[in-house]
Amino acid sequence: MSMVSSRRGLPLVLSALLLAVLILSAQADVKRYQFDIVMSNMSRLCHAKSMVTVNGSYPGPTVYAREGDRVVVRVTNRVEHNVTIHWHGLKQRRNGWADGPAYVTQCPIQGGAGSYTYDFNVTGQRGRLWWHAHIAWLRATVHGAIVVLPERGVPYPFPKPDAEAEIILGEWWHADVDAVEKQGRMLGMAPNTSDAHTINGKPGPLFPCSEKHTYALQVQWGKTYILRVINAAVNDELFFSIAGHTMTVVEIDATYTKPLAASTIQLSPGQTTNVLVRADQRPGRYFMAAKPFNDVPVPADNKAATAILQYAGVPTSARYPADVPRAVDRHLLYTIGLNVDLCASCVNGSHLVASLNNITFMMPRVALLQAHYGGLRGVFAADFPDRPPARFNYTGVPLTAGLATSLVTRLSKLAYNSSVELVLQDTNLLSVESHPFHLHGYNFFVVGRGLGNFDPAKDPAKYNLVDPPERNTVGVPAGGWTAIRFRADNPGVWFLHCHLEVHTSWGLKMAFLVEDGNGPDQSALPPPKDLPKC
Ligand code: C2O
Repeated sequence: MSMVSSRRGLPLVLSALLLAVLILSAQADVKRYQFDIVMSNMSRLCHAKSMVTVNGSYPGPTVYAREGDRVVVRVTNRVEHNVTIHWHGLKQRRNGWADGPAYVTQCPIQGGAGSYTYDFNVTGQRGRLWWHAHIAWLRATVHGAIVVLPERGVPYPFPKPDAEAEIILGEWWHADVDAVEKQGRMLGMAPNTSDAHTINGKPGPLFPCSEKHTYALQVQWGKTYILRVINAAVNDELFFSIAGHTMTVVEIDATYTKPLAASTIQLSPGQTTNVLVRADQRPGRYFMAAKPFNDVPVPADNKAATAILQYAGVPTSARYPADVPRAVDRHLLYTIGLNVDLCASCVNGSHLVASLNNITFMMPRVALLQAHYGGLRGVFAADFPDRPPARFNYTGVPLTAGLATSLVTRLSKLAYNSSVELVLQDTNLLSVESHPFHLHGYNFFVVGRGLGNFDPAKDPAKYNLVDPPERNTVGVPAGGWTAIRFRADNPGVWFLHCHLEVHTSWGLKMAFLVEDGNGPDQSALPPPKDLPKC
């Protein structure tokens, strides 16, 4: 204002223009990053290994932005592996081109100096998310945090913490993860479990040779910290706790939530949870630990990662209402199945596959989003069934007869702005198991969940349509179901998949094709010029 009024001599139009420019530049910044995909030599647990990283760090660099900013990340791929980067939980409105899952929204960035610039606006969301490679298992080592600060002058809806820290939980293999996945595929069986879990890239003192590799967070007595916990593990759901300290959960998947006090939190791969911790115990050193959650006897790496916390509740604000769709235009029920299928090229003649409504998703050779907007025919069918082919006692005794799966690329078409309810139903095909499902391009409301079979006559009456959690990744309980609702207001092709990478590899995935609307801001943006080719 002072700048404008000091130029009293300028014509009115000019000063108004100047003011507009000032306001615009005060609101939206452009944040630029360069990501170099490189091989780095890292040592952990007595082993040094050469692995793919961004800019040589593990976890990779944190991306900072403020709500409303434009973020431009130029990725240059200097390794042999093909790569893409996904901004997990960013809605990318109308801009699927920047979303990143390989062969869904883009062809990979080719090894040997291929490059692509992810250019997107961060609007209508704030909080802590993460980015990761979205091709095969590369995200094991290629991931990092995204911080979206609230707009200037807008406070958090909880007491302001004195400081913050990132806690990124990861999974470590001595071997190259590509080789681990390939071996699993060749055998048609579950790939080798990891050798360690990590906290901020370090396994902690319970592992041999890892004294140097312990993360420690310095805190001061009496201060309150916000810990941004991210589960970046590839296949393991993890518990996290801090000895002697209570955590207050205030944000999940970059959505403010009703505060909840807990001594232990559980996160599925893909989920982020922010907790407030007050350093109010007797000064000393306290363990932080991350250990797998296992409710069914599948092979898992049960080793706990540890780190050290070292001494040196507010209601959801009216600003962030839960806008839950009340009426539902499309009811979807997807069953989650595991099967053993014949496989001529596999060593054992058969292999494990996973399916939704008996469909094992086949990855296309060109990106679905590209095929859709480029009018390429024959890449996919848009007829993914809204219900399983047969009704059966989903969670009853193991049952496999008559439930053969097909390997095809089928998408579900959603009308622009329709309200959708999706019930994800686990089954006892082969075995029950829990599955964290992630939807790209959206947040959704978790309106209900339960054990056993979903009952469309009775269960909806128990839904929470008032203040359900809003997130981008949700667990489907082993032998149970989870119901989510969202409004299909983001046109494009959006991936839905289990965030356990081993299950994604087996085909536990599909995609929605959300049609363009008729309004001015209701259709997908045109593809960027440097979009990689397949
Ligand atoms: Cu965090 Cu499709 O991914």
